[in-house]
Amino acid sequence: MKTTDNPARVEQASAGHLLKCVHCGMVQSTVDRMFRCTQCNELLEVVYPNLAEAPREFGLRLREIWKERRTGTLPEDISGVWRFRELLPAIQRNNMITMCEGNTPLVKLTRAARELGLPELRAKHQGMNPTGSFKDTGISVAISMAKAEGYSFVCCASTGNTSASVAAYAARAEMKSIVLLPAGQVASGKLAQAIEYGAHVLQLHTDFDGCLNVLHDVVHRFPAYLLNSLNPYRLEGQKTVAFEIMEQMDWNVPDHVIVPGGNLANGSALGKGFQELRELGLIRNLPKISIIQAAGANPLVRTMRENGGNALVRVNAETRATAIRIGNPASWRKAVAVLNNSGGACEDVTEKEIAQAKAELGSEGIGCEPASAATLAGLKKLVRSGFVKANESVVLVLTGHTLKDVDYMLQAQINRVIGPMPADAAAVVAVLERIHAGN
Ligand code: F0G
Repeated sequence: MKTTDNPARVEQASAGHLLKCVHCGMVQSTVDRMFRCTQCNELLEVVYPNLAEAPREFGLRLREIWKERRTGTLPEDISGVWRFRELLPAIQRNNMITMCEGNTPLVKLTRAARELGLPELRAKHQGMNPTGSFKDTGISVAISMAKAEGYSFVCCASTGNTSASVAAYAARAEMKSIVLLPAGQVASGKLAQAIEYGAHVLQLHTDFDGCLNVLHDVVHRFPAYLLNSLNPYRLEGQKTVAFEIMEQMDWNVPDHVIVPGGNLANGSALGKGFQELRELGLIRNLPKISIIQAAGANPLVRTMRENGGNALVRVNAETRATAIRIGNPASWRKAVAVLNNSGGACEDVTEKEIAQAKAELGSEGIGCEPASAATLAGLKKLVRSGFVKANESVVLVLTGHTLKDVDYMLQAQINRVIGPMPADAAAVVAVLERIHAGN
């Protein structure tokens, strides 16, 4: 029998999920509004008990089904998230809020690869999602859960991208969105998106960590569904990037995958995705998953260096890569587990290194936001230290679109613009000839 002949059997094998504490391991089937373990207050993760018992050929069947769906026409098949729904919480179709998220390109970075002496360097560009960041994959799943539970308000604290995504998906879902932003610390493209999509935007006199603390109290007093990455369903959507990478690499596991780290959910989600593929027997080994932070916002780096990942070292975060300006990351325990399980590294990079890496990516036609460019800056460090070796393949996860933070680019590169000058062809040609002559 063809493996896809009986989709019902596949659905059956994967249906049903539980929530497991990442610290004490307690399993629960319901959650409170902050998605915390009722026993030890740590974060929860989604587990699928039936998957562990799935027969060996189940994984291979899934691989075929996922591939076939790519040529389908149903919204849940076109989505680069819901296409993988056997590994997602079960959601009825009418509650599924999707905008064809995922399906992002994996592009070769030829120039950077040449300069670093690497045979295979690719960028998985999550900035090509509907609202221009990787957040859409996670928000699609979590907001669908909110819809299924009957909420009419959703909310988040954000350095910008989550707010843009929440606002857009809430609008699609005909729900209302509330976003708390650190005043004056959000790139204008992201703020503009949240406004455009109709969010109630509240700018607070604090940083991201402060906004999240306030939101903690708000959700206990106001019936809004929390869409920050404390919400374990966010990670379920975000983990699908691992599935897409594997499909795009014809199931050859890259040696390294590198992500920027802020609140540390994305690296955790990536690790969970690869881990599940391994459990299903679809890959034999995990890539080394490395997490890069800005030097001014490096709590995970310090946590690993100073106590081997046992207790979070909080910092007062400061970086122009505002997306990852976070000093008290919620998902630090999950991230430590991913580093340990995959053998990845955790590094920090300076503002100058981020700016340089961003300009280099730009010079090969790949725009991204500063936080995303931290991955290339980190890779350079990891090559220099010998952690990434000359024969190894690498995927950088670029998390956000270049137009999110136009001010950053203009400030860094405005001196490359010539003029204002006379509107005169002779003057223009004179400049071009000077450029061509190399002075
Ligand atoms: N890159 C970009 C472009 C981001 O927006 C973020 C986080 C990250 C990386 C870090 O991901 O938090 O999962 O480690 N942005 C969040 C926001 C915090 O509110 O938009 P993380």
